[in-house]
Amino acid sequence: MNDAQGIPVVVKAVEQVTPLIRHFTLGAVDGGPLPAFSGGSHIIVVMRAALRTHRNPYSLLSSPRRRDIYEIGVRRMEESRGGSHFMHDQVEVGSRLEIAHPVNLFGLDKIARKHVLIAGGIGITPFLAQLEDLHGGQVPYELHYSVRSPEHAAFLHRLQDREGGRLHVYFDSEGRSIDFDALLSAQPLGTHVYVCGPAGLIERVIATARGYGWPDSHLHWEQFSAPPVGEAFDVFLARAKLKVHVPPDRSLLESIEAAGVQAPYLCRGGVCGFCHTRVLELEGELLHNDHFLSDADKARGKSIMPCVSRARCTSLVLDL
Ligand code: FES
Repeated sequence: MNDAQGIPVVVKAVEQVTPLIRHFTLGAVDGGPLPAFSGGSHIIVVMRAALRTHRNPYSLLSSPRRRDIYEIGVRRMEESRGGSHFMHDQVEVGSRLEIAHPVNLFGLDKIARKHVLIAGGIGITPFLAQLEDLHGGQVPYELHYSVRSPEHAAFLHRLQDREGGRLHVYFDSEGRSIDFDALLSAQPLGTHVYVCGPAGLIERVIATARGYGWPDSHLHWEQFSAPPVGEAFDVFLARAKLKVHVPPDRSLLESIEAAGVQAPYLCRGGVCGFCHTRVLELEGELLHNDHFLSDADKARGKSIMPCVSRARCTSLVLDL
């Protein structure tokens, strides 16, 4: 995707739903319908600040049946390189933004016999849209929502009103946590589990499920990584014949874009694999931060995902 394919939107409502999370409602600038999407989809929000452009992925939490609005939840990240702070501090009702078409990397399995949804904190957002698809359907499901305390539990009232006994909430402040062994050891055959939230939660769910013999095809997770800050380095783009400087607080992909070169991407969070780029030469080491390449691929050093990964090097040449 690139910005030429973006959709201009206007902010219709902003609500602070927890001390750290803001809820934004977006509509098309021309008032027309927005593209259709399914539960679990995300959009890239393009934020043009004075000195730089941020492009961050956010899950859609509104009903897939509504084409007049999209809703997203944005958590203020302490270690943010600017995107979440921009959304919190500078975006208000009437602000104009640009978004990419929705992409679903976290869809519900169509032939699952049961769905077990596990959310940690802001990881609740993709499930809100998925629940719209599940509610009233034939396939049983349950949602387990783990969160720091009641005041940090975003969208809890929306869930309580509708989900009743299918919703299980665990507040750290009350010493409650999900018993993964009990939850994952006794599910009927054909159950799929979905998890979204902090890395530790995802690792725990995946490891526990595998320990009980769940096939990988029944395990689904989504975790967008934020590109980390790091040491500056230079990269040479072989096809563009261009040397690009990557500063400490800009990702490799952002630096390539700032130099005027279009590079492919879908998620910008190290998940989809769309930005996969061949490494032609390297003197130094690649600092992989994606969830896409296998450990073996990372060790080979022949590929990099520029949306989240960096390098510590004296020379790096990419096939771009
Ligand atoms: S854009 Fe999805 S992994 Fe880089």
